Amino acid sequence: MTAVKSFSFLLLVSTVFTTHALIYKDCGSVCGKVRSVAVSGCENSNICILRSGQNANLTVVFTSLEDTDKTKASVHGIIGGVPLPFPLPQTDACQNSGLDCPLNNGKNYTYTATIPISTAYPKIKVLVKWELQEAHGKDLFCVEIPSAIL
Ligand SMILES: *[C@@H]1O[C@H](CO)[C@@H](O)[C@H](O)[C@H]1NC(C)=O
Ligand SMILES: *[C@@H]1O[C@H](CO)[C@@H](O)[C@H](O)[C@H]1NC(C)=O
Repeated sequence: MTAVKSFSFLLLVSTVFTTHALIYKDCGSVCGKVRSVAVSGCENSNICILRSGQNANLTVVFTSLEDTDKTKASVHGIIGGVPLPFPLPQTDACQNSGLDCPLNNGKNYTYTATIPISTAYPKIKVLVKWELQEAHGKDLFCVEIPSAIL
């Protein structure tokens, strides 16, 4: 049942959002506008394969729609509709993430992050929800990437 649901979800998403081959959905970027999303190794597939025991690198280009001096990254793996937090080595995105803080309204930024794919994670399909929040907790970007851990 879950597999059928996620399959129809993937079909729905793939008809609506496509950048190169990586598929993503904007899940509510209220304080920013997403320009592009890339995950290393996922350039040529419709589902992003995350290799167990390796690092996955994410790059999001976005325009900030406000001035903010703080940014916080938050990642969840949504499995069967249930969001589970993915521990990130660096949640303060003003550090080592390519952002020059404070962010200015109307400027373009390239956010980069690395996430370790623990061998302890189950090897299943997961919708990766990656958010970057501004000082008041609102999303500069929110993207969902259909993925599978192998
Ligand atoms: C992610 O980037 C790191 C260096 O920042 C590199 O060692 C690693 O191989 C990259 N991962 C992938 C899947 O390309
Ligand atoms: C930001 O990027 C978008 C899309 O690439 C571009 O159209 C826009 O001119 C850029 N804005 C600035 C301020 O560089």
